Amino acid sequence: MTSIDLAIIGGTGVYALVDLGDVDTHQPVTHYGAPSGPIRIGTLAGKRVAFLARHGEGHSIPPHQINYRANLAALKALGAQTVLALNTVGGITERCGPRALVMPDQLIDYTWGRISTLSEEPGTEVLHVDFGDPYTQSLRERVLAAAGRLGIDLVAEGCYGATQGPRLETKAEITRMKRDGCDLVGMTGMPEAGLAREMGLDYACLGIVANWAAGAGPDPDEIITMDEVLANVKAAMDQVPRILQAMLD
Ligand code: HPA
Repeated sequence: MTSIDLAIIGGTGVYALVDLGDVDTHQPVTHYGAPSGPIRIGTLAGKRVAFLARHGEGHSIPPHQINYRANLAALKALGAQTVLALNTVGGITERCGPRALVMPDQLIDYTWGRISTLSEEPGTEVLHVDFGDPYTQSLRERVLAAAGRLGIDLVAEGCYGATQGPRLETKAEITRMKRDGCDLVGMTGMPEAGLAREMGLDYACLGIVANWAAGAGPDPDEIITMDEVLANVKAAMDQVPRILQAMLD
């Protein structure tokens, strides 16, 4: 088994890590089925890094149909212990405007009907894992320290609200989420984080803010378009490979 220093799961608008060198492609099939697409393993800053596009490399898998268990199980089977999830999100609170990078420390799960545990199958042990702090603090600190060394702005905390999608939210849903304490809204943060905890993986989320969530920005009637989302992700993604390099150095 190849050992992997860091696995990256890319979200909407992040379908490859161009800086990976000497890439090998793997297509594992797990006990839970096939992952979203090929896993590319290569080198970054002299370390072994795996990359998987969560929605598939052609963005063909909607959030509720992603095989989150297979994605994480495949990365683990290839030797990953540490997973950094890149999640494209909408920003709800002031500090999380478009193009901000945010390292949430909390989450609220509003998704439904997704397979959200390894305990799903008859005969498997029922797991009640601790999830009070859903992200691995030491991994969050590594990412924050790397951004700090580079002078890149990275919001150091926040609450990620995971919605069902694939439609975007109503203004009332975002108002409720803000009242609940959410800073970010995305569609893929759960069950990924919970499954990672059940699998014993170190896991953290780096949120890439693509747009103001519905009604949350300075123009509450702004329409959110995919063009805006992809342009902002592309711009914000300029900084992410530098952060990854610095955290691996
Ligand atoms: N809502 C949910 N998910 C998202 C958004 C949003 O506004 N933007 C990018 N992913």
